[in-house]
Amino acid sequence: MKTIGVLTSGGDAPGMNAAIRAVVRTGLYNNLRILGIQRGYDGLINGALDDMDSESVADIIHRGGTVLRIARSEDFMNPEGFKKALNVIDVYNMDGLIVLGGDGTFRGAQKLSDAGIPTIGIPCTIDNDLPYTDYTIGFMTAVETVIEAIGKLRDTSSSHGRANVVEVMGRNCGDIALYAGLAGGAESIIIPEIGYDEDAICRKVLTGKNMGKLHHIIVLAEGVGNSFELAEAIEDKTGVETKVTVLGHVQRGGSPSAFDRILASQMGKRSVELLLQNKSGRVLGTKCNEIIDLEIREALNMKKKLNREMYDTANILSR
Ligand code: F6P
Repeated sequence: MKTIGVLTSGGDAPGMNAAIRAVVRTGLYNNLRILGIQRGYDGLINGALDDMDSESVADIIHRGGTVLRIARSEDFMNPEGFKKALNVIDVYNMDGLIVLGGDGTFRGAQKLSDAGIPTIGIPCTIDNDLPYTDYTIGFMTAVETVIEAIGKLRDTSSSHGRANVVEVMGRNCGDIALYAGLAGGAESIIIPEIGYDEDAICRKVLTGKNMGKLHHIIVLAEGVGNSFELAEAIEDKTGVETKVTVLGHVQRGGSPSAFDRILASQMGKRSVELLLQNKSGRVLGTKCNEIIDLEIREALNMKKKLNREMYDTANILSR
């Protein structure tokens, strides 16, 4: 193993830079040449890459986004694009690749590994939707961003006696809504794994109002119904003025939390070590505070389980 490439793919996540730094510095420590590939698999297809040294990752551990830039590549999944990527890997004598991203990125990693290119995946996505790991890099930072927003909305909602629907990201996974809802003391949490009953939400708003609650925060994961329609229904049925805040891509940016920087540093280092041990087709994760690795295929076949106890806890505590 002499030369390895590193890329970030999919949607960015806070902590990607910390992971890139760890990959580069661990590679250099082991006398490897490190190539930083620009804009994910697209950069691999187009040969958009540069040598990285210790200096090129200085001052980035605390920065959101990704210095390697990012893309969701469609070309990589078609035979022509994939062939071009293999050619670039060959021309640059890359002995292995480390890819940072979510499930789509890992499917690309599996393809490379099946084609004989040693490839390791590092889980970076704010959604925390990968079933094999307790946490993905970026998730906790996104949760912090959401609870900061909830805190501010609670201030103004209390002043006016309003309800607030806060729409958060997460695609098919309700973890951002669940964790931020619990930590932010939300009255209701709406997630795709469970769905919601509009009348039950309205009853809770009225019960809260009758108990003297000045605010009512409803955290809703994107894609579960329509936040604006829900707000309208709450207003109609309860008479409580209800505002909507869609947090959107704000959740994807910002300086990574300590948790994400630590996770990224540990996984970045371990990914290089796996390549040095001639491992391929594996992804990193964390279970019970340990860094683990397993086959990509196995990881992608698992089904994400909802932390039902956490959901029930939030429900009980919000009464
Ligand atoms: O997968 C991460 C994520 O932020 C999702 O939560 C969201 O649905 C999606 O990406 C948005 O993607 P894009 O930035 O491409 O619009």
